[in-house]
Amino acid sequence: MALRSFILLSLLASVFAQDRYRVCVSSTSQCQALELGDSRAICTPVESRVDCALQLVRGTADVGFFTDEELLVLGQTQPTNNLVIATVRDFTKPGSVSFQSVAVVRNDHTNGLEGLRGKKYCHPGLGEAALRWSPRVEKELETRAANTDRCPEADYKFKTAEEMEVETLSQFFGDSCRPGAWSANATVDADLKRRYPSLCALCGPNSSCDYTIDMGITIAGINNNNAHIKALECLRSGGDVTYVAWQHVREFFTIRNNDIVSNFSLLCPNGTLVGLNSVNITDTNAPCAFVSQHWGGIVANSARANALQTELRTWWPAGSNPADNTWRSTLYSILVPQSSNAQVIMEDTLLTPANFTQLSRPLTSIDSATSCVPPRVWCVVSAQELAKCNWVRAAAYSLGIKPSISCVQRSDIFQCLRDVREKNVDFIATSSNYGYLARQHFSLTPVKLVQNLHSDPNSFSRVIALVRANSDITRFENLRGRKACFPEFGGISYMSFVRTAQVLGVLNDKECDYARAVGEFFSTTCAPGAQDASHALGASNYDVSNLCSLCKAPNGANSTCSWDYTSNLYFGNNGSLSCLANNDADIIFVETTNINSYLTAQNLQASQFRALCSNNTLALQNGVNVDDNCLLSYVVDSEVLTRRQDEAYSSISALLDTLEKYFGYTASSGTQHVNLEIFSSFDGTRDLLFKNTAVGFSEPTTATTNQPAKNYIELFSHLQACTGAGNNIPVPGLANRSFYSIVTLIVSALVTRFIVY
Ligand SMILES: *[C@@H]1O[C@H](CO)[C@@H](O)[C@H](O)[C@H]1NC(C)=O
Ligand SMILES: *[C@@H]1O[C@H](CO)[C@@H](O)[C@H](O)[C@H]1NC(C)=O
Ligand SMILES: *[C@@H]1O[C@H](CO)[C@@H](O)[C@H](O)[C@H]1NC(C)=O
Ligand SMILES: *[C@@H]1O[C@H](CO)[C@@H](O)[C@H](O)[C@H]1NC(C)=O
Ligand SMILES: *[C@@H]1O[C@H](CO)[C@@H](O)[C@H](O)[C@H]1NC(C)=O
Ligand SMILES: *[C@@H]1O[C@H](CO)[C@@H](O)[C@H](O)[C@H]1NC(C)=O
Repeated sequence: MALRSFILLSLLASVFAQDRYRVCVSSTSQCQALELGDSRAICTPVESRVDCALQLVRGTADVGFFTDEELLVLGQTQPTNNLVIATVRDFTKPGSVSFQSVAVVRNDHTNGLEGLRGKKYCHPGLGEAALRWSPRVEKELETRAANTDRCPEADYKFKTAEEMEVETLSQFFGDSCRPGAWSANATVDADLKRRYPSLCALCGPNSSCDYTIDMGITIAGINNNNAHIKALECLRSGGDVTYVAWQHVREFFTIRNNDIVSNFSLLCPNGTLVGLNSVNITDTNAPCAFVSQHWGGIVANSARANALQTELRTWWPAGSNPADNTWRSTLYSILVPQSSNAQVIMEDTLLTPANFTQLSRPLTSIDSATSCVPPRVWCVVSAQELAKCNWVRAAAYSLGIKPSISCVQRSDIFQCLRDVREKNVDFIATSSNYGYLARQHFSLTPVKLVQNLHSDPNSFSRVIALVRANSDITRFENLRGRKACFPEFGGISYMSFVRTAQVLGVLNDKECDYARAVGEFFSTTCAPGAQDASHALGASNYDVSNLCSLCKAPNGANSTCSWDYTSNLYFGNNGSLSCLANNDADIIFVETTNINSYLTAQNLQASQFRALCSNNTLALQNGVNVDDNCLLSYVVDSEVLTRRQDEAYSSISALLDTLEKYFGYTASSGTQHVNLEIFSSFDGTRDLLFKNTAVGFSEPTTATTNQPAKNYIELFSHLQACTGAGNNIPVPGLANRSFYSIVTLIVSALVTRFIVY
């Protein structure tokens, strides 16, 4: 009986669940209120709106809100899925679109867009917060008139996309005012402003490329601080063309300059002029526009879109928030994130985001879009990473970020490192574990380091040296002729040992072959991968067999040096712990990340081990938790690598700054054009493209204020000196160091060390 009613209840529950709409919710604090009472909605927690889009297609969510720019991205990434059921509008802005961008010129303008050559151009400014124009929208007139998307000369090499753009603009327009950040990198921006001053010449007296022109009297209903109004005043007071929002053109000429409205015309994208007059200036729709932006909207999966739209009409009859403290009201605040003046208008015909946006913002499909600069190719190592990369690519493309990105999947990290070196791909974000191999064997260089999350104990790369608690080893000098296990040949722990031993004078710092340095120092070791072409690549003429002799294959199988868990029991940080616990090694070098879980998994106690600190003393107590001063390395856990002194280096660096600006944590979700987070989980999976422990980029220089980044650069100072002297491979900032300067480097590293620690 009980069973039967249970089945009945479950059946009923599933019927109701069927009937409920699964709503994408990013702040789960709204879930309780959403599911109150007779609610027809349930929460589907999502990390970002991109995750919501994936769930809609998969059928694990039914409905979510997307911004205007996100709808464009969906049109690129999911062209045949989902339907836009309603738009979310601002009722103070009448008209069928969210905004229109127009070009205003004087009536005597001739020769269409080409006629703008040499003319004085007034732009409201890049990155203007008020209207939230994407770069693509901000630059639409420039793209069409000055052809900034075509290469001015074949020579784009060694230049950032930003530089090519302003170079073209400065050649096309006369004295102009184009305020705002021309680059996400402030140094690059300042440099460009200095080198292309004509694009700031019209901004007014003593301007640092911001409008300082006299705005005249203040009149109610018109904001003289509005960037578009400033750009219109720039036109009125001597400019030839401005590119602004139609709503501000209307304000400017109806409230303030009624007498001169008929002296100006709109320059249409097809090159014709439409004279402005007291009649058409009152129209909420512009006579012609460069961009007509649709509203953001509510998108449902195709299967439930029709039914849900019918329900929404009854739940929100006025299109406004019912504000009645019911789940309907909560549903409104979830699906209509705009807090004031919101109005939901149901769509008469349900279109896919692709068809919906095609009407207002036709955008060439990303795969057929061309650009003069080749896309920068991001190497990824899994299907999930590829999926995330392709969303970043599509979002960057829709927003108009340059240069464009493309994504290529390879089977593993070494394949990527090789392909970067061989110019098949351009960059890759990797764990700092591969920093040495990437530099030494693949001749790569960092274009960015990351900043790590301090509050996450598994963030950063912290390397310790461990001996058994009852060991007779008390100093690094005692290690000569002993046995050591490393997680991986050339990995961060291996590198940290080499560096520490060099600094302590235990390893000969004239030895640039780190295989030989380690192999000759210890009697035997296990450094998995030492015989593998991916790790060694013929760089060493040293017989590496004793770098492998401690490694252990399962079930007493033949000796191994492989760098995978299945065929080498001593591979990895947990493998090294096992090597030490089994009495096979006298010392191991491991990263502390997850170390306690490794101990638990192998039924080991932390008290079985003691750390040998970088200042050449044993830690005071047994255990694996040591203070930062004891560590052999305390460095960032990942970096972005590219070729050394490559023609694409600065453009990749600037591109990464731009990606961080739009998709990093500084782009707060409230003002983000596209809610995609490059440093966060994607589709429920961590550590794709970047580790989740990354919170942003830092510069790969010792000048950085980020100490773990600085430590990381210093970790490779000896190697850089070696490669600079030996192979004459130029390294930015460290080219052509001789052995003489190696000594200087080591001394300075020692000095820094004592200052730092
Ligand atoms: C900006 O770019 C320059 C040149 O590429 C680089 O040296 C600098 O560190 C960058 N600064 C920031 C804050 O990204
Ligand atoms: C506007 O046009 C009229 C007639 O063409 C002309 O007389 C007047 O000077 C112009 N005013 C401005 C501000 O350009
Ligand atoms: C140019 O565009 C305007 C506005 O859309 C339109 O009225 C006009 O007919 C077009 N002219 C030509 C020659 O296509
Ligand atoms: C949507 O676009 C596709 C092609 O992109 C087209 O085949 C289809 O007919 C369109 N649907 C509507 C309703 O316009
Ligand atoms: C180390 O971890 C890996 C993956 O988590 C596992 O496959 C392997 O068996 C572990 N090795 C040891 C020695 O515990
Ligand atoms: C060496 O470092 C450890 C760990 O930070 C510290 O406890 C100890 O006092 C240091 N010893 C010397 C001689 O500086």
